[in-house]
Amino acid sequence: MQTAFRFKRSDKIAVLTGAGVSAESGLKTFRDHDGLWESHKVEEIATLEAFQKNPEKVWCFYKQRYYQLSDASANPGHFALKELEDYLQDNFNLITQNVDGLHARAGNKRLIEMHGNLNKCFCIKCGAEFALDKIDLDPSIPKCPECNDYLRPDIVLFGEIPYKLETIFKILVNLDFFLVIGTSGSVYPAAQFLQIAKTGGATTIGVNLEKPNNLRFIDEFHQGQSGILLPALLKEWLKK
Ligand code: OAD
Repeated sequence: MQTAFRFKRSDKIAVLTGAGVSAESGLKTFRDHDGLWESHKVEEIATLEAFQKNPEKVWCFYKQRYYQLSDASANPGHFALKELEDYLQDNFNLITQNVDGLHARAGNKRLIEMHGNLNKCFCIKCGAEFALDKIDLDPSIPKCPECNDYLRPDIVLFGEIPYKLETIFKILVNLDFFLVIGTSGSVYPAAQFLQIAKTGGATTIGVNLEKPNNLRFIDEFHQGQSGILLPALLKEWLKK
């Protein structure tokens, strides 16, 4: 595996991941052939208006995806990123657009789930938060155990602001390396992080099956599956 770069423990490194990093765990991506947005309409599932108009349909989609998670486990790509965190400690940050929780299952702690988490939900009235395995999922719209109003999946819907953006922007402008893995670079604001990090002085590295839309901001690009490429690249990056 060829890479021009070696990482030191003192390097500040952040990683942005997308659905591609979980593809080898058996989870569908969104925009690839046979991806989730090929069989579902985004505007009927993943927008605030969709939840207001037809919460049953939105819940049905996310319940299915939640149940699929029980068969999925972290893959070698996730574990390589856990190893990178172990090496860099506080100099490492992992920002993910994924809601599957697999980075946490792999052991990453310095993790920002900017689009939420499929294993969680919250009440639209009182704001109480619950793990999905602690609530009754049988009703088509699950109800809040505390105030009996409707719950909604803890997923950032289109039209809403992703979580922890302020923290993310602070991380992006103070980096030696920024790695972008398994994301098509088509959903903003995440698609803009590469440009921000590069403008802030970071060297940028991409790992993706297809060329992403924001390829022009990537200094070194590796095309292929992250579950195969990341463990091999990690060996090189950490070589003395
Ligand atoms: P996409 O489905 O848009 O892109 C997935 C990317 O992963 C594509 O560029 C693929 O080429 C690549 N890919 C597929 N398999 C791979 C593999 N094994 N290794 C490496 N790369 C692989 O997914 P995202 O970019 O994550 O938002 O989508 C961003 C957001 O759009 C999601 O978080 C979701 C969606 O709508 C919300 O739901 C809010």
